[in-house]
Amino acid sequence: MSLFQLFPMATILRSLHFLIILYVSNIPLAFAQNENQFIYNGFLQAKLHLDGSAKITSNGLLQLTNTVNISYPQVGHAFFQFPLKFNTTSSGLSPSLSFSTNFVFAVVPQVPNVGGHGMAFTISPSSNFTNVVGNQYLGLFNSSNEGLTSNHILAIELDTALNPEFGDIDKNHVGIDVNSLNSTDSASAMYFSNKEGKNISLGLTSGNPMHLWIDYDEAEKLLSVTLAPKGIPKPNRPLMSKPIDLSQYLLESMYVGFSSATGTLVTSDHYVLGWSFNKSGQAQSLDVSKLPPLPQQRKTKEIPVLMIMVLVIAVILVLITITGAAYIIRRKKYEEIREDWEREYGPHRFIYKNLYKATKGFLDKELLGAGGFGKVYRGILPSSNIQIAVKKVSHDSKQGIKEFVAEIISLGRLRHRNLVQLLGYCRRQGELLLVYDYMPNGSLDKFLYSNEKPNLNWLQRFRILRGVASGLLYLHEDWEQVVLHRDIKASNVLLDAELNGRLGDFGLSRLYDHGTNPQTTHVVGTVGYLAPELTRTRRATTCTDVFAFGAFMLEVACGRRPVEQQGLTEEVILVDWVFECWRKGSILDASDPRLEGNYVVEEMKLVLKLGLLCSQSMPAARPSMRQVTQFLDGNANLPELPNEGGCFGTFKGNEAFDFLLSIPSTSGKGSAASLSSTDSILISGR
Ligand SMILES: *[C@@H]1O[C@H](CO)[C@@H](O)[C@H](O)[C@H]1NC(C)=O
Ligand SMILES: *[C@@H]1O[C@H](CO)[C@@H](O)[C@H](O)[C@H]1NC(C)=O
Ligand SMILES: *[C@@H]1O[C@H](CO)[C@@H](O)[C@H](O)[C@H]1NC(C)=O
Ligand SMILES: *[C@@H]1O[C@H](CO)[C@@H](O)[C@H](O)[C@H]1NC(C)=O
Ligand SMILES: *[C@@H]1O[C@H](CO)[C@@H](O)[C@H](O)[C@H]1NC(C)=O
Ligand SMILES: *[C@@H]1O[C@H](CO)[C@@H](O)[C@H](O)[C@H]1NC(C)=O
Ligand SMILES: *[C@@H]1O[C@H](CO)[C@@H](O)[C@H](O)[C@H]1NC(C)=O
Repeated sequence: MSLFQLFPMATILRSLHFLIILYVSNIPLAFAQNENQFIYNGFLQAKLHLDGSAKITSNGLLQLTNTVNISYPQVGHAFFQFPLKFNTTSSGLSPSLSFSTNFVFAVVPQVPNVGGHGMAFTISPSSNFTNVVGNQYLGLFNSSNEGLTSNHILAIELDTALNPEFGDIDKNHVGIDVNSLNSTDSASAMYFSNKEGKNISLGLTSGNPMHLWIDYDEAEKLLSVTLAPKGIPKPNRPLMSKPIDLSQYLLESMYVGFSSATGTLVTSDHYVLGWSFNKSGQAQSLDVSKLPPLPQQRKTKEIPVLMIMVLVIAVILVLITITGAAYIIRRKKYEEIREDWEREYGPHRFIYKNLYKATKGFLDKELLGAGGFGKVYRGILPSSNIQIAVKKVSHDSKQGIKEFVAEIISLGRLRHRNLVQLLGYCRRQGELLLVYDYMPNGSLDKFLYSNEKPNLNWLQRFRILRGVASGLLYLHEDWEQVVLHRDIKASNVLLDAELNGRLGDFGLSRLYDHGTNPQTTHVVGTVGYLAPELTRTRRATTCTDVFAFGAFMLEVACGRRPVEQQGLTEEVILVDWVFECWRKGSILDASDPRLEGNYVVEEMKLVLKLGLLCSQSMPAARPSMRQVTQFLDGNANLPELPNEGGCFGTFKGNEAFDFLLSIPSTSGKGSAASLSSTDSILISGR
C-alpha cells in the first residue's frame, strides 16, 4: 500500500505548500502544536496580542507607550498570542517551569533622563488587563489587587521612577516582582563587563537600546536577570540571582509578554526591538544587527537641539556684530590722519588715543579756554604724567597742511623761556591738535579783568612786560628766520607757575595763509591791536607786531582794554586817552587804579610812554623790539614823544567792520566773526 493511497494527492500537496510557505516566509519558529519557543528580530510578523497604547510601528518596533499623549497615564500590553504551559504535570511532554528569554528594549523619555514610569517582562495567567492602572502600577495591577497572591503574576520590572510606596531603591533599577510591585529583589541598572572585569552602571532612560536576559532553572530554583547595553555579549555575571520557587506562584497556563505604563506629564517611549523566548532550552540570543532601528531624531530632542544651535548661532552673530561695531566705533573714535610726509616728524607726532585719554575725552571740565583758533583743553599724558594743554584747531583744507605742519614743527624748535613750548601735534579729519606745555596760571587777561584771579602788583606786571618783550624779540631777530606773532594781546600771554609771561599761539595765524587761495592775503589779529596800515597793505610785519605790543603795554599798565565800549556807540580808544593824559602832563592818571599808586613812577612813565611810541601810526616811527627791550631794561633813553595827537592811530572796531564788509571774504572766517574787542579776527581780501 502506497502512501498515495493512504493520503489523497491534494492533501499532500497542501501540506507541502504549507511547509514551503513556512520556510520561505521565515516566520519565526512558531509551532502550531508546541508553540513554546520563538524569536522575533523585529515584530512585523509577530503573533502578539496588543492593547492600550501598544502598537507595532511600520519598521517593526514594538512601541508600548508613547510621549504624544501626556494628559492621561498610558497603559500598553503586548503578549504572545497563545498561553504557554508552565506549572503542570498532566501531560507527557514534560512541561517545566524553566524558561529562558532575552529581549532588547529602549526607554526614550520625553524630558531627557526623566523617565515615567517603566516597563516589565510579565508572566500572567491572563492577557486581559482591563482593570489595571498606569503610573507606578506599570499597567499590572490596580490599587485594590496590588500585592494579592491571587494575581499569580511574575514580572521583571525596568523601573524608571522612584516610588517609596513600593520601597523602590532608586529611579533606575531592575526588580523581581511577585504579585506585587514591592520587589522581592532589585538592583540598580548596571552590567558586569567581561572585558574590564567590573560593574558598569547604565541609565535606563538614556534612550539607548539595552539587552535583558531572564533565565529560570527549575532544578536549581534560581531566577537570574542579566543586563547589558545592546551589542555586548551576555555578561558572565548576572545582575541578580534570586533563589525562588515559581511553582508557588505560576499556574498551568500562562501568557508571556510586556506591560508598560506612563504617568501624566512624565512620559517615555517604551520600545521592544526584538524578543527571543524558549521554554525548551536556552533562548537564542537576538541578532542585534537585524533589529529595527529606533526613530533617529526624535521631535522632542530635535527641537531643543535645533533651538540651542539657532540660539548659539544667533548669540555668536550678535557677539560678532557687537565686537565689530565696537571695533569700528573705537577705530572711528581714535581715527587719525597720518601721511607719508609726516614720518620725519615722528617724535612730534602724538597718538590721538593718548590725547583723548589725557583730556578725558576732551571733557568740558578740562576746557581751559576757547580762543580765536579753537578750544584748549588741559590734559595729563598717561605714560609720563606730564601736564599738557591741547589746542583743537579746526581746519578743513587738506591743501597746505603739509607746509603748516612743517612750520609748526620748526616753531617747535624755538626755545625761549618767554614762549609757550610746542611739544607736538596730531591730525584728524578736519582737525589739527597742537600740544603745548601746560601753563598752570592761565592767561594774563584773567588777572587783569576778572575777579577770580588776584590782582597783579607792579613788580609782577613789569616783569611780565619785559619777559614778553624779550620773547617777541627772540621771534623777530634771534631766530634763523623772522617769525611774526600777529596776535599779541593779553589773552595770548600765559603765565607759568612763577608768573613769568609767555607768549602763546605764535605762528598759528599762518594756518590761514596756507591752504587757501594764494591770491588772497589775510589779516589776522584782534581789534585794538591792529596797526592802521593793515587797512591798506594787509601785510603783517614786525612793525605791526610792535604796534600790538604797544597796545598790550598800555593794557597792562592801565588795566584797560585797547578799545572799550562806552555806552552804545561811543568807544574809548586807550591810546588816545593815554596820549591826552600825557599832553595834560598827568600821564600817571592813566595808571591802573587797582594798583592804588603802588608802582615805581619811573617805570610806569616808561611803560606808558613806550606804549605810545609803539602806537604811532607811521610804522617807521615805531621802535624795533630790540629797542623796546633796551628801553625796558634801562639800557637806552626813551626819545621824546611827538606832540600831535594825529600821530597815534588804531584799527578801530567800526573801521575794521567797515573794512570787512568792503572786502569779499573767501575763507568766510572773518565775515562771520563778531567784532568783540577780545576775539581774534581774520580778514581776507584780494
Ligand atoms: C489619550 O489617552 C486617553 C486615555 O487613554 C484617551 O482617552 C485619549 O483619547 C488619548 N488622546 C490621544 C490624543 O491619543
Ligand atoms: C476582560 O475582562 C473583563 C472583565 O474583567 C470583561 O468584561 C472583558 O470582556 C474581557 N475582555 C476580553 C477581551 O476578554
Ligand atoms: C482591580 O482589578 C480587579 C480585577 O483584576 C477588579 O475586580 C477590581 O474591581 C479592580 N479595582 C479597582 C479599584 O479598579
Ligand atoms: C515590601 O515588602 C516587604 C516584605 O516583602 C515589607 O517588609 C516591606 O515593608 C514592604 N515595603 C513596602 C514599602 O511596602
Ligand atoms: C557587581 O554587582 C553585583 C550585583 O549587583 C554584585 O554582587 C557584585 O559584587 C558587583 N561586582 C563588582 C566587581 O562590583
Ligand atoms: C503548581 O503545581 C504543583 C504541583 O502540581 C502544585 O502543588 C501547586 O499548587 C501549583 N501551584 C499553583 C500556584 O497552582
Ligand atoms: C530552544 O531551545 C532548544 C534546545 O536548546 C533549541 O534547540 C532551540 O533552537 C531553542 N529555540 C529558540 C527559539 O531559542
